[in-house]
Amino acid sequence: MTSLNFVLANAISRSLQPGDEILITQLDHEANRGPWLHQRRHGIVVREVLLEEDGSLDYADLEKKISEKTRVIAIGLASNIFGTVNEIDRVRQLAYEVGALLVVDGVHFVPHLLTDVRAIDCDFMLCSAYKFYGPHVGILYSRPGALDRLDTDRLRVQTQNAPYRIERGTLNHAALAGVSAAVDFIASFGEGSTLREKIVTAMANIQKYERSLAQQLYLGLRDLDGVDIYGPPLKETQRAPTLSFTVENKRPEEICKYLADHGICAWDGHFYAIRAVEAMGLMGQGGVTRMGIAVYNTPDEIDYVISTLKQLLNS
Ligand SMILES: Cc1ncc(COP(=O)(O)O)c(C=O)c1O
Repeated sequence: MTSLNFVLANAISRSLQPGDEILITQLDHEANRGPWLHQRRHGIVVREVLLEEDGSLDYADLEKKISEKTRVIAIGLASNIFGTVNEIDRVRQLAYEVGALLVVDGVHFVPHLLTDVRAIDCDFMLCSAYKFYGPHVGILYSRPGALDRLDTDRLRVQTQNAPYRIERGTLNHAALAGVSAAVDFIASFGEGSTLREKIVTAMANIQKYERSLAQQLYLGLRDLDGVDIYGPPLKETQRAPTLSFTVENKRPEEICKYLADHGICAWDGHFYAIRAVEAMGLMGQGGVTRMGIAVYNTPDEIDYVISTLKQLLNS
């Protein structure tokens, strides 16, 4: 996804003038910040929406930073560190008002919540198949016609029209077959006569299941002494089942090591949401511990996580 976003950002910036503005956010993964920040070498101004303490974006700041000069708004659908789901309808409306392109990072949203590019009505959306049980393939959606208008680095080895217009050389056919299998895997959790119906019902089932596990994890963590949980409350219907927390007097690295010694995979640090961790003042203490729920997790596993953390805190 990061590579695709670089190619996309470079192509979009060819149509921009020095002084034009691109809006990014403090909440986004570096994959949807770095490629835009690089465009500053062409005299393009990159502005950054601030993050609130509860892990949501500061929408007043966002509105303030959008103007007639804004040519691109690059924003995530969901945060891979706090689980925040951004108010994309509001952002799209603002993008329309000033005629900016809306480029959306769907990487953390797509595995957990139903994604409908037509409803979101973005110009471009990116995601990554390995986040929804597939292989390492970045995916770019373009509003019909939008990619054909971009000045991409085209080679004679590829067809000049979308979707091939942004590709270089032969496609990774083996991995693409894997993407198809991953879509079928997701569809297997749903019902209906068409693939679309199956995916829509599957995602509703997946969301409900992951949500109940996230709630169980949240309640378990909340009862532990000295634990601070980040991100919006879980009762919000639009939230990814991803929980980040810190523990008083214990570095995230130490917690993850202990969990790993007990067979639990969790990761510590910033997860490349580097700016968000800096903005929250969490970098010095080693970031946070993050636990992400996926469709294969079980209630027993969540109980085991909580009892293992209890052991660590009492040791
Ligand atoms: C929200 C988000 N955006 C972008 C990326 C980058 O995706 P890729 O690893 O496919 O470049 C990640 C990866 O963790 C992510 O979580």
